[in-house]
Amino acid sequence: MDNFVYNIPTIAYFGKGQINVLGETIKTHDGSKVLLAYGGGSIKRNGIYDATLEQLRKADLEHVELSGIKPNPRIESVQEGINLYRENNCDFILAVGGGSTLDACKAIAAGVKYDGPVTDLFVNESGVSDIAAAAPLATILTMAGTGSELDMGAVITVGEDHKKKVLMHPLLNPKFSILDPEYTYTVPEHHSMAGVADILCHLMEQYFTPEVHNTKVQDRMNEGVMKVVIEDAPKILADPQDYDARANIMWASSMALAGFQFMLGKPGFPFPLHGMGHELSSMYDMTHGHTLALLTPSWMRYTLLTAPEHLPVFARFARNVMDVQEADDAKAAEAGIKKLEVFYASIKMPASLRDADVKQEDLEVMAEKAVERGNLGILTSIGKEDALQIMEDAF
Ligand code: NZQ
Ligand code: ZN
Repeated sequence: MDNFVYNIPTIAYFGKGQINVLGETIKTHDGSKVLLAYGGGSIKRNGIYDATLEQLRKADLEHVELSGIKPNPRIESVQEGINLYRENNCDFILAVGGGSTLDACKAIAAGVKYDGPVTDLFVNESGVSDIAAAAPLATILTMAGTGSELDMGAVITVGEDHKKKVLMHPLLNPKFSILDPEYTYTVPEHHSMAGVADILCHLMEQYFTPEVHNTKVQDRMNEGVMKVVIEDAPKILADPQDYDARANIMWASSMALAGFQFMLGKPGFPFPLHGMGHELSSMYDMTHGHTLALLTPSWMRYTLLTAPEHLPVFARFARNVMDVQEADDAKAAEAGIKKLEVFYASIKMPASLRDADVKQEDLEVMAEKAVERGNLGILTSIGKEDALQIMEDAF
């Protein structure tokens, strides 16, 4: 196991009614005028907007609003938020929504403290953003999936070709996040299940690394969280107001990327499925979780084919996570992938890129763009031709 530093500076207020801490906790961070940011208006329909305003009023906090942040958030919303924050002399940012709203707010938090264009703050070659200061940010999570509520990353869509670019810096960790599972009751089935696929993928991206790292604590904990996600997602499908299932999925979302805890002690930061999946969102504005579910089984089979020395990790996943009972490693690994496909189908993920209305002639461009900053992956190095093979297989 490599050396590591573990630090989750975000305080999580988890459970029913935790919004009651909002006003006073903003004040402990010297907030007096809040930039309140949200998406397309779901929070106005489900009561979260009113509950938030009531808390701000009770604490005598002024606020200005940034609304209309779209899924796969655009840099234009970030710039609008930076302007609003500055023009109104805000001193605190409150993001109320899913990952898209949270990510836009993280970029705003960094942007308001930087004199140049916010696009300078995307990650550099070493995978970190050059950020010297950020405004204080808190989140009220309304949808489980991305883990943005407890991590230091943000993904923003930029330019004519809708390229998804990343900001990553410890200063982007929210000061605190309010995680009330009841707030996720109204998330439509499509987004609830895409969130599940996203959580599972975050866990798998950190799990499928070379065995030699000997990170047993991280990997066994990771397996436990993956099993819970697979067990509880169908309960949400059956009853969107199943509190315990919503709670487990919400906490799994937060834990999956908190301090990147399941990558600790391992070198690098692979996330190849995200590298390829973002290109599907760029070209088709596809829901993030769907992109990952579509590519994962093909990526697994391709990895086994090109780097068979990693078979034991796939066999372990099959046995410990997918409950495969099979002594032979190769057979176990394949059975694990098949069971994963059955799970994706059960949570209504599209079955293939073709089913998701992707055009086969676009695959090459997407494969090329996925690796434009370098090859992806750690088990096997994915260049353009490899990415294309994986996408062709997923087609
Ligand atoms: O915009 P509103 O009206 O709020 O509606 C949203 C949106 O349409 C709706 N929604 C959210 N909470 C709701 C609700 N509808 C009813 N009731 C509620 N309680 O759900 C839709 C999707 O929201 P969005 O925020 O886009 O979803 P998600 O949380 O999946 O975020 C996706 C974004 O996060 C990025 C993705 O790339 C994508 O841009 N990611 C961020 C990461 C991070 N910061 O660490 C890591 C991830 O891998 C991911 O890349
Ligand atoms: Zn993700």
